[in-house]
Amino acid sequence: MQQKDILIEKFKELFGAAPDCVAFAPGRVNLIGEHTDYNGGHVFPCALPQGTLCAARARSDRTLRFFSLNVPRFGVARTMLDALVPGCGKGWQKYAEGVVWAFRVSGLAMERGADLMFFSDLPAGAGLSSSAALEVSAGLALKTLFGLGLTGPELALLCQKAENSYVGMNCGVMDQFTSAMGREGCALFLDTASLEYEYAPFDRPDVGLVIVNSRVKHSLAASAYNERRRQCEQALADIRSAFETDALCRLTPEQWERYGGAVRDPVCRKRAKHAVYENARTAAALRALKAGDAAAFGRLMNESHVSLRDDYEVSCPELDLLAELAWDTPGVLGARMTGGGFGGSMVALVETAAREDFIRRVGEGYKERTGLEAGFCSAVPAGGARLV
Ligand code: GLA
Repeated sequence: MQQKDILIEKFKELFGAAPDCVAFAPGRVNLIGEHTDYNGGHVFPCALPQGTLCAARARSDRTLRFFSLNVPRFGVARTMLDALVPGCGKGWQKYAEGVVWAFRVSGLAMERGADLMFFSDLPAGAGLSSSAALEVSAGLALKTLFGLGLTGPELALLCQKAENSYVGMNCGVMDQFTSAMGREGCALFLDTASLEYEYAPFDRPDVGLVIVNSRVKHSLAASAYNERRRQCEQALADIRSAFETDALCRLTPEQWERYGGAVRDPVCRKRAKHAVYENARTAAALRALKAGDAAAFGRLMNESHVSLRDDYEVSCPELDLLAELAWDTPGVLGARMTGGGFGGSMVALVETAAREDFIRRVGEGYKERTGLEAGFCSAVPAGGARLV
């Protein structure tokens, strides 16, 4: 039986009737453009085939019920439409509650409750946006149930609002936007300031993407993330005393070299330098992809990792080890940590002919040095959120 059919069967069993709709929203892997999305810069992710299914049914009262097939031991979580308070959400269901809250405070007409049941095949904590997939799948299901007129980008922004204001994670828009707007066979080049985007075909037979899950997730990742944001805001405030700009990533590397000295705190200066150069690398990566230059694309990925490790300081020993093992493997064009950092995954651009050898060498080297079993999967760019 397909996952969707299992979900529908369980829904009927637990909630007593068939769902009105089933929505799917994918996870994402970011190829380059890390920690640029809250600095007004570019990102270059693609949506994955893996993601989250949400089966949903509208209710006639104001009750909300949530259940996840991934954590059935947690049972059914229940709340009321009017009881949602930002910052007070608990458990996995806070992401879905946040979407309901964001819809309602944005003036969308949602005056009845709903039953929502989820299943995800995304590994949690792997840096592949399982929370955005949960939010966007819930958002698409609710939009469908209540006939709300929302475009994909509007849905992404509401889901980001849910995570920022209800959950309390001050993320940028990349994950939700990619989950809502991904396209099969393409990476998504997004300007996070204007939300203009373009799809860049990423479907060569001779090279492919491999995601390597370090299987570590360091605690404090959320607080360190919010701290990086504050450091970037401080750097921007300092820069503005010397140069008029509304976002760090609006600066070219040349402008940075001229005005970056205005950032007084050395740590904030390193953070800002990463943002400026990473944004330039992301634009260069789009040009490399369009020119069919996979080697140049790979070099930019390597530079991105070094900058995230040394200037932004969001990597960790396990991700650095994975990157070094990948860099030492023949047939690897580039490799870098992906996502917010402090654990999670690495993404590598690997020649198809070298893929098996890559998995063996990196897997064995990682196991030998850490005792951990890395997880490998091919990343095939897939479509964004849809009803199934
Ligand atoms: C997390 C956030 C994104 C982005 C990345 C880092 O995935 O949710 O908005 O900031 O980290 O690039």
